[in-house]
Amino acid sequence: MPIHLNPNVSATAEPPIPEAMSWLAEAGITPRRPLLNLAQAVPSYPPAESLRDAMAIAAQKVETAFYTPILGIEPLRELFAETLSRDYEGQVGPEDVAISAGGNHAFCMAVMALAGPGDEIIVPQPCYFNHEMWCTMQGIRVVPLPCHAGPAGLLPDPKEAEALIGPRTRAILLVSPNNPTGTVYSPELVQAFFDLAYRKQIALMIDETYRDFLPDGPPPHDLFSDPRWQDGFVHLYSFSKAYSLTGYRVGALTAGPRIMAAIGKIADTVTICPSHIGQLAALYGLENLAQWKRQRRDEMINRVAALDQAFDGNPGGYRLRSRGAFFAYLEHPYPDRTAADVARMLVRDQAIFMLPGPIFGIAQERYLRAAFANVDESGIYALSERLKAHSISDGGILK
Ligand SMILES: Cc1ncc(COP(=O)(O)O)c(C=O)c1O
Repeated sequence: MPIHLNPNVSATAEPPIPEAMSWLAEAGITPRRPLLNLAQAVPSYPPAESLRDAMAIAAQKVETAFYTPILGIEPLRELFAETLSRDYEGQVGPEDVAISAGGNHAFCMAVMALAGPGDEIIVPQPCYFNHEMWCTMQGIRVVPLPCHAGPAGLLPDPKEAEALIGPRTRAILLVSPNNPTGTVYSPELVQAFFDLAYRKQIALMIDETYRDFLPDGPPPHDLFSDPRWQDGFVHLYSFSKAYSLTGYRVGALTAGPRIMAAIGKIADTVTICPSHIGQLAALYGLENLAQWKRQRRDEMINRVAALDQAFDGNPGGYRLRSRGAFFAYLEHPYPDRTAADVARMLVRDQAIFMLPGPIFGIAQERYLRAAFANVDESGIYALSERLKAHSISDGGILK
């Protein structure tokens, strides 16, 4: 007798990266043309050696094997709150911080705290696919908010968002710097979204997983100094990318007391506590790796400059529509082809592996995402050379 599965999970898209990985079987790799893997958003460098040494010692301690408090170890909550207060020139206390099992887990908990089946969350398109997948699994409708391409990247418009707010809307979600586009939202834009959300009595979630890769400058937004922030602002963070410890599974959710009370229940039920050693690694990073993190950040900023240069003449007709943090969002030159066709063709003919735009939401057929964190500067120049060579030798025709 066939068993029944949760229809919301069945209705959710498959994880897209494994499917795209299957294209690699036909990759046109040669000794002089190795694979340029721009598909997954992972740092190309290992974690700091001193962090690895410290974790080897921590792993020997018996207590590292045991549970921690539900919302995380106190020193980490305190130091993370201090870091946010300093970086955003605002007021955040340790009681506002929940340590999570990664940024995805922080998002899942936030959504579960804010919305239930039949509710709606407004999500700018393109979006990070796991965000959409989790909402669908929860029976929550993702209401797409289109982004518009301009000189500052792909941006959503708060006025258009307002028109989408209905009786079941519970939250607006922003990601800045954005995955997949790399676009960085201005403090004014973030504030406008918060003002809208506050006025409409819905929450504003901002995922700032890539905030450590921003150039020096004023705080990314002023919400933590807004006296209303605890009333509906939810900040999501990941230690994965900043310290290159994606496998340790550690992130953070910051919110006011009402939301935090709900998070306490969810965190206890799902994870009981975040990984203990992961929390120790995050604490080690915050305490010791500011300089190391800045150097990695500077490498990423150099890659952004290399991208601007490499794509100056639209190599092969590919236009750099947006870039920042780990990502470049390219418009491909074939209006009659699907993005998946173009991505497969590039794997096959040039051993370039990028993800097609529609993985990231609706109306993205003209785009490909290149996660340049995974390659160095020479890889970025190789990308533009290969795109140029491709258009000349193949005319872009899928055989
Ligand atoms: C915007 C965004 N949020 C969250 C995550 C996941 O972070 P974590 O590894 O901490 O779960 C990613 C990973 O790619 C991401 O791009």
